[in-house]
Amino acid sequence: MAVLELRDVHLTYRTAQGPVPAVRGVDLSVDGGEVLGLAGESGCGKSSLVASVLRLQPRSATVTGQVLVGGENVQTMSWRRLRAVRWGEAAVVFQGALHSLNPIQRIGRQLVEPILLHDSAATPRTAADKVAGLLAQVGLPETHADSYPHQLSGGQKQRVMIALALTCDPQVLIADEPTTALDVMVQAQVLELLVGIARQRGMGVVIISHDLSVLATTCHRVAVMYAGRVVELGPAQELFEHARHPYVRALARAFPTIGEARSRYAPAGLPGDPPFPDRLPSGCPFHPRCADAVDECSSVDVRLRPAGPGRVAACVHVGAGVG
Ligand SMILES: Nc1ncnc2c1ncn2[C@@H]1O[C@H](COP(=O)(O)OP(=O)(O)OP(=O)(O)O)[C@@H](O)[C@H]1O
Ligand SMILES: [Mg+2]
Repeated sequence: MAVLELRDVHLTYRTAQGPVPAVRGVDLSVDGGEVLGLAGESGCGKSSLVASVLRLQPRSATVTGQVLVGGENVQTMSWRRLRAVRWGEAAVVFQGALHSLNPIQRIGRQLVEPILLHDSAATPRTAADKVAGLLAQVGLPETHADSYPHQLSGGQKQRVMIALALTCDPQVLIADEPTTALDVMVQAQVLELLVGIARQRGMGVVIISHDLSVLATTCHRVAVMYAGRVVELGPAQELFEHARHPYVRALARAFPTIGEARSRYAPAGLPGDPPFPDRLPSGCPFHPRCADAVDECSSVDVRLRPAGPGRVAACVHVGAGVG
């Protein structure tokens, strides 16, 4: 059953220079126990999409469409309900979150706080017990409850951030580049941990990463975004091995041998830069960079089409025998 469902979600920032349509009609769903990867070049709208899930978009942004967490629309619920849903139903580990731990507060204290705030039945004793359990679940010794953030390594801090997101037993956990600052071995451990916890708790997890090899090995399905939209979605391994969308093919080529030395995500062989959301080209937004573009691509903006079992892709060639 879907614990998170996005239906035709748009997010537009209002700026002095005019509207910036950062998310332009995204449909996605994540089942309990499922790990969904979200990829795409910098600026394609991943973090903006995450913001919409907990209604954390800035005041300058307008969101339309439906964002359903456990069937309830986050974007239209009361503030009171929203406060309960944040942490309680859906939690986010933010991009660069390692630095958001309070440097002068012990780890245990920081983990106890949301429990006491959200669970009226919790006592300092039961909250402390829960924190000990959470630390164990993320593979940290209980004694770390007494540590300050500076006494932990980057990987340990990231485990604390995951424990923090789990404090109120959410059904949905979103991790926005949870491993960017970590070395490859620790990265793998943290992701394995997330996947294990998702399975164990039946929680839906969304992992955003620039590292496609990480997504290919840890996620059930992957969605790739370009210029504010999902351009391809499908089972992780197949998606990268036999990408249907030329953009995804180019990205996959940048990670030729998954499992071998990983380069930082730099789409080798892909000319140009992604477009600015307020200056999108006509037709398919990828067509100026696309090796397979035909005349039609500069005028027809193709939406997602069936592209095999459990797969969709937004390309004029898909379904026409070329994809
Ligand atoms: N507060 C804001 N006001 C105006 N434009 C914004 C704002 N935040 C983001 N944007 C623009 O929205 C677009 C999407 O940004 P977003 O942060 O969602 O991308 P991203 O896919 O998460 O990128 P990255 O991989 O670098 O984290 C970008 O063009 C960005 O410049
Ligand atoms: Mg981002």
